[in-house]
Order: sequence, then C-alpha cells, then structure tokens
Amino acid sequence: MSVARSGRFAGERDPAFVVLNSSLALDWRLWREDIEGSVAHAHALEKARVLSTAERRAVEEGLAAVGRAIEAGTFVPRDEDEDVHMAIERRLTELAGDAGAKLHTGRSRNDQVVTDVRLHLRRVVERQDGALSALQSVLLGRAADHVETLLPAYTHLQRAQVTSLAQHLLAYVWMLDRDRGRLAVARDACLELPLGAGAAVGLNYELDREAVAAELGFDRVSENSIDAVASRDFVLDYLAAAAQLGAHLSRLGAEFVLWSSAEFGFARLPDAFSGGSSIMPQKRNPDAAELMRAGAPRLAADLGGLLGVLHGLPLAYNTDLREDKRYLFDAVDCLDALLPVVEGLLEGLEFDDARMAAACDAALAATDVADYLVGRGVPFREAHHLTGALVRRALDAGVELVDVSLDDLRALSPAFDDGYYELHDPAAALARKRSRGGSAPERVRDQLELARAAVAARA
Ligand code: ARG
Repeated sequence: MSVARSGRFAGERDPAFVVLNSSLALDWRLWREDIEGSVAHAHALEKARVLSTAERRAVEEGLAAVGRAIEAGTFVPRDEDEDVHMAIERRLTELAGDAGAKLHTGRSRNDQVVTDVRLHLRRVVERQDGALSALQSVLLGRAADHVETLLPAYTHLQRAQVTSLAQHLLAYVWMLDRDRGRLAVARDACLELPLGAGAAVGLNYELDREAVAAELGFDRVSENSIDAVASRDFVLDYLAAAAQLGAHLSRLGAEFVLWSSAEFGFARLPDAFSGGSSIMPQKRNPDAAELMRAGAPRLAADLGGLLGVLHGLPLAYNTDLREDKRYLFDAVDCLDALLPVVEGLLEGLEFDDARMAAACDAALAATDVADYLVGRGVPFREAHHLTGALVRRALDAGVELVDVSLDDLRALSPAFDDGYYELHDPAAALARKRSRGGSAPERVRDQLELARAAVAARA
C-alpha cells in the first residue's frame, strides 16, 4: 500500500501513470533535508501533544535509521513511493509503526516540499558562493601581477585603446561581486519557513512554527499559507542569479577561446583543461572554455523553464510545481560542474605578455592624439575629425601614425607640435588613463584594494 493512496481509490494505479507521476528522480537528493524537517515537525507535534514523548522518540530513531540506510545505499525507493517524502515516510512507518503513521499530522507534502527545497538551496547557495569567492581570489591574484601588462581593449572586437590585463581581469571580479549579491538575495529568500501552512489554508493544530523555524535555521515564518505553498520565487531568485552568473562565465569562457587561438595567441590554456581531437593529432582544443560558454544558454533556459511553469498557474499547489526541481537542480549541477573548472583554468592560464603588448599597435593612440589637440585648443569634434583624416593619410602612405612628419601634421592643422611624438608609447598612453576606475596602473592599484575589500565584505 502506498502512503498517499487513501481508501478513496478502488484499484491500483496504471503502471504508466506510476512512472509518469514519480518525481523520485527529481527530488531524491532532498532526503537529508526531508529527514531534518520531519524531526523538527515531530518536535512541534510533541509540544502540541499529538505525539507522546515515546512516539516522538520512536519517530526520531526511525528517521535516523532511514537516513543511515540511505547513506549506506541499502534503502532504495520504489516508483510507487511517488516522491522522496513518501518514500521516507513509508519506510519510517514500516520501522516505527503507529508513531510513524502519526508524523504527517498537521502537515502536507505541499508545505513539506518547499521547506525541504529551501533548506537544501540555502546550503547550495553557501557552497557556490564560497566557490565564487575562490574565483575572485584567483582573479585578484592574477590581476595584481599584471597591472602594467599592456592589452588592447576592444570594442566591436576591434582594437580600441590600450588597457592592462589587470583592468580586464578585474572587470570580472566586479561582475562576480554582483552575482554574489544576487545569490545573497536568494539565500535570504530561503530563510522563510513555509512549514505549518498545510496543504493551502493552514492547520487545525496550533503548532509552534517559530520553534520549528529556529530549529531548522530559518529566521522567519511565512505569513500567508497560500503564498507559502504556491510561490516559487525563492527558486526564481536563485535561477535568475545563476543565469546572470552563467552569462558572465560565458563571456569569460569566450575570451579564453579567442585568446588561446593562434590568431590571438594571448594565452595558453593548461593541458589539464584542454581536449584533443580524435583525428587531428596536433589539436589542442579549449573544451573547458567552450563549455563555460555553453553553460549560459542552459542556465537561462532553466530560469525560462520555471517562469513558464508558473505562468498563469492558479493558486495554490499544482503538480506542475514539482517541475521546479528539474530546473533548479539542473542549474545547481551546471554550476557545480563549472565552477571548479573555471578556477583551474584561471589558475593555470599562461599569459603571453609580449603578444598582448604587440597587439597594442600605434593606431591605439588615436584617441590620445585627439585629446592632445583638445589640449591645444581644438574643439573635440574637430580634433576627432582631424585625427581620423590623419589616420587615413598614414594608412594611404603605409606609415605608422608615429612616423608622420611634423610638416605633414602641420599641413593638417597648425595645432600640432613636437609633443605629438610622445603620445604613441602604449605604456605612457596607459598611464594617462587616470580617471577614477580607469586603466592607469596607479588607479588599478587603488581598485585592487577596493576589490579585495568587496570580496572580504561578502564573507
Ligand atoms: N513531490 C511533490 C513536489 O515535488 C510534492 C507533492 C505535492 N502534493 C501533492 N498532493 N501532489 O512538489
């Protein structure tokens, strides 16, 4: 007899329906939290005199035994159990008899499941936040070594102006900082206890919800029973954070792919994170970086999937809601697999400073030329136009900007003088980017301090 099959039904369920209806593949990983939640619920039932002390003890011992069996791999649920909650309760009742059969008093799987998922997700978020903090530390360490390493900044994937490798890497530290802020929002949403809402409308029992919350580490209880069982925005908060994190990791992965190509040659990916080809023996493929890129659509789809489930869904609980775990755990697994790889890649990446510097060609100083003309009284729009004409002439003549003669410069504008020739050293151009948040080494050193403080503040 299945726990959920009441006397209302005449026959057994169709086997095809049993398979469809089983959510064990989706929710089995919640077993630990399900047991923890049940222990706290048993305490509340004892306090409300639904369970005697002896019965509460039998329930606790039974649940502990089920937990041990699951851990040892000796308790395997059956499809007929339908979900993790019923599998555990069925086994508990086999072990503890009537005491076990009383455990579900004043509780529904509807408030039980969201309690379990919140408990579980809180731990996931803490673990993944720790992984992001480790990523930030690696990025900070590598950035600190490359404050003066020249790198072209790109817009439209065209070389734009000179920056440093540190400035580029630090951009990701700030993205991850905001990702961690969004994860913190998701974590906070997991701190509201739904248990005590019952199936939808509340209970016929006065259970001490605050005590249950305190026992399980929640910091508040939900104030509306329907909201408690019907809402999944705490999962959406996580999936939204994961999707944005995925977008950030994907941009980083895409840059690793570009940088490690022969065409760029800015970096070499570690062997331990590179793949080969089954036919081309010379190949060294950036598989790990490509999978960083591919994580983004998967995580975005997980968010979109759950939004789709919730769209137009009438209150309160509907079986559609069990699909929340399909999307949630896919995102969790995606990030759990990616984050250690990203860390390894960042640690093992070998930068080719000379290639990066060589890519900072003379044309990158064009904006500096325009600003130089501005300093000599030329309005910026005119300076921009003049410099563009200068670039075209240099290209037509097949010379670098820095090799145009002073006579030719003055033919374009009398504002030019000898100072023009000092503009083209990329290190000097870097040092001029002194605005707050800019690429100048002195500014980037300040920024490193701020970024370290931001990482520490999230700890
Ligand atoms: N396993 C379900 C879920 O994951 C919980 C069961 C909800 N209640 C019900 N009567 N079907 O959401």
